[in-house]
Amino acid sequence: MTDLLVLGSGIAGLSAAIRAAERGLDVTVLTKGALANTATSYAQGGVAAALAEPDSPALHRADTLTAGVGLCDDDAVDVLVGEGPDRVRELMALGANFDRAAIDGELELAREGGHSLARVVHAGGDATGAEIERALVAAMQELRVDARERWFTVDLLVEGGAVVGVEAIAPDGSQHAIRARHVLLATGGAGQLFAVTTNPPVSTGDGIAMAYRAGAALADVEFMQFHPTALDVASMPRPLLSEALRGDGAILRDEHGVAFMVDEHPLADLAPRDVVARAITRRLVERNLSHLFLDATPIADFATRFPTVDRAARAAGLDPSADLLPIAPAAHYLSGGVCTDLDGATTLPGLWACGEVACSGVHGANRLASNSLLDRSEEHTSEL
Ligand code: SIN
Repeated sequence: MTDLLVLGSGIAGLSAAIRAAERGLDVTVLTKGALANTATSYAQGGVAAALAEPDSPALHRADTLTAGVGLCDDDAVDVLVGEGPDRVRELMALGANFDRAAIDGELELAREGGHSLARVVHAGGDATGAEIERALVAAMQELRVDARERWFTVDLLVEGGAVVGVEAIAPDGSQHAIRARHVLLATGGAGQLFAVTTNPPVSTGDGIAMAYRAGAALADVEFMQFHPTALDVASMPRPLLSEALRGDGAILRDEHGVAFMVDEHPLADLAPRDVVARAITRRLVERNLSHLFLDATPIADFATRFPTVDRAARAAGLDPSADLLPIAPAAHYLSGGVCTDLDGATTLPGLWACGEVACSGVHGANRLASNSLLDRSEEHTSEL
């Protein structure tokens, strides 16, 4: 029997697996695809944290609460913004290389929608999630954690009202009962339930479904967040055009070239994500259009700052430094999920949850940009 069975290999699962292994626990990770085949690897913008003055946890808190539209859990937000800077430093200690300014070597901070100032660290320009995933996989492998790829978890094992393991299918198709003292759900979100999404094929909501079948409480599952700017091309998942583009000067335009966000919100193009997605969707419906446009031509040195977006645009025959980019909202992040307390405990003994599958209330009705990669505190393992 393993001490901790982690389901999922994104930032939430691997962070917990690493911390638990460092504390001497016997840890097994099951993931239904390849280790790095996760929504984390797709994340572009970065990690939000109040790392340097004039920023502060209080400002980060205020922005998170505003974006959450009055439905955030205050205590969860306090943990997120208060521990945020340490969690970013831990990622760096584990080997994640965030972008630094050439002049002074300080971390580069970007701004995204809903943030009152620049506080988002990023890596490889817009390849932040891939860099974090790389670092965490390497750190976990160094600790010799038993990580099993292409193991598909079918259901949680429940005995006497407590979760005691899982039923899972191995790569050769054989079915196994794996027993564990604790099971941690870190299975991510459910964007693939929608016709149009930025999420990878693995984001099918199976962790939430198995928690529900086992009798765990769920909350806020109606709060699927739509990212305002997915590239409107005929591929699935839709390529993401990071909010950091607008933080660096890109502007949303309608079919006549009008920059419409100035009439929608005091923060204009940097309004919270739900406001922007609704402003776009309203125009699409009223005007019977399939897309509006993101004008990224004001961004200097585009291919260096946003190499992932540049590649996606060029694959669609578009040059971001010259062309308007067709965009439409796409299902992006599930703010609700399996109910947890601040330690990640669910309502079922033996079952824990963290990351996108979990609902601690930290995101309220609408997650603030780049708060997702922060929502994976190592504190989840402290109670095991
Ligand atoms: C983005 O880069 O726009 C996505 C970041 C996020 O989902 O927080």
